[in-house]
Amino acid sequence: MSKLIIEGGQTLIGEVTSSGAKNAALPILAATVLLEGESELRNVPKLMDIVTMVRMLNALGVRTEFGPNNTVRIWNNKKIRHIAPYELVTAMRASFFVAGPLLAKTGLAKVPLPGGCAIGSRPIDLHLKGFKALGAEVFVEHGFVELKAKRLVGTHIYLDFPSVGATENIMMAACLAEGTTVIENAALEPEITDLGHFLIKAGAKIEGLDTPNITIHGVEKLHGIQYDVIPDRVEIGTLMIAGAITGGDVTVHNVVIPHLEPLIRKLKECGADIVCERNLIQVKGNKDLIAVDIETQPFPGFPTDMQAQMMSLLCVVKGNSKVKETIFENRFMHAHELMRMGANIKLDKNYAFISGVETLSGAEVRITDLRAGAALVLAGLAAEGETIVYGLKHLKRGYENMPEKIRALGGRIVE
Ligand code: UD1
Repeated sequence: MSKLIIEGGQTLIGEVTSSGAKNAALPILAATVLLEGESELRNVPKLMDIVTMVRMLNALGVRTEFGPNNTVRIWNNKKIRHIAPYELVTAMRASFFVAGPLLAKTGLAKVPLPGGCAIGSRPIDLHLKGFKALGAEVFVEHGFVELKAKRLVGTHIYLDFPSVGATENIMMAACLAEGTTVIENAALEPEITDLGHFLIKAGAKIEGLDTPNITIHGVEKLHGIQYDVIPDRVEIGTLMIAGAITGGDVTVHNVVIPHLEPLIRKLKECGADIVCERNLIQVKGNKDLIAVDIETQPFPGFPTDMQAQMMSLLCVVKGNSKVKETIFENRFMHAHELMRMGANIKLDKNYAFISGVETLSGAEVRITDLRAGAALVLAGLAAEGETIVYGLKHLKRGYENMPEKIRALGGRIVE
């Protein structure tokens, strides 16, 4: 079984460069269904999830080629097929991002229901509400979502919750709709803005990015472009915590500081030294880090995708912390594994109460989902002795070369 072996207790010191953002690259790849002609995406992380999305594009009739230096070339000049294969949507929920582009481009989409995952039930009702509002007929039967519309028509769509995926799916569909669409209570995550910039470069007319009201004026068509994906704020955040949890001194290059503000605030509250300069960030840990409370919120609140990694840190700081998870209902699976490493955590519904311990002890642990995997690696780095982390496939879905990056900082970790 795939596993990582970590010899804990090393102080991580040095410099690393971030990879491109998985959660920006995925919807951008899906959006290439809307384009006509040739495109080149740069700073695309080489990950399992990206490979899954590329396979999806191929299945729909979009040709792709991975190039050197994290580029992907894309040719969209054949007829698009509107049926998304079951095995790709069930392998990765984000495959559902093709629904909006398929509907807008072909007037039809048949996409399997993505279903739940390890962190929660994850419905898609808001995506469907948006498509319906744009004039699509929506059928959900036999495990598929079928969408039909001769031409989508712009409208106002209020999202009951600022869902990242629904904002992205509706924004992509609205690009080729007739007239103007306004998404109200849109999510503000940086990956949405990146998708918006990509679409604008391809010829879309979008206003209000980075605000809760995104306005999209429909256009007849979009054209191929070259585009650089933003850095991955979750990978960067994970490396920042690696610096803090080992009492080290880690500098990450290729970062966008405002994307990291919620984490920077909390790490400073813990007592870590943080220096931000243009596009690099340096984090120094020390022996006197202290407990903080966190509550996950949509951006610019504390990201749910950093909750697990932050919990690992809170397990070894002085004092008592409270973690409240408000985005996903089942996102504490890592806590049980951290307890096996000696962490003092009590769970109560969507709260975790953590009393910092002097040190964690290495153990055999199992990854249940992507960010839980990152949390266990961080805990392993801080623990005394050897930690064996099983279920590496989850980590590989979302982190490019994580063991290599940690080794470059002096961590002892082998596959
Ligand atoms: C995206 C990210 C994921 C991150 C999450 C929240 C990608 C590929 N994934 O996931 O890493 O953790 O944002 O920042 O970008 N919801 C509904 N109905 C819907 C859609 C969502 O009730 O139609 C609920 C979800 O169940 C969840 C909450 O809204 O409780 C947030 O989900 P959402 O923002 O949509 O997350 P994703 O786009 O799935």
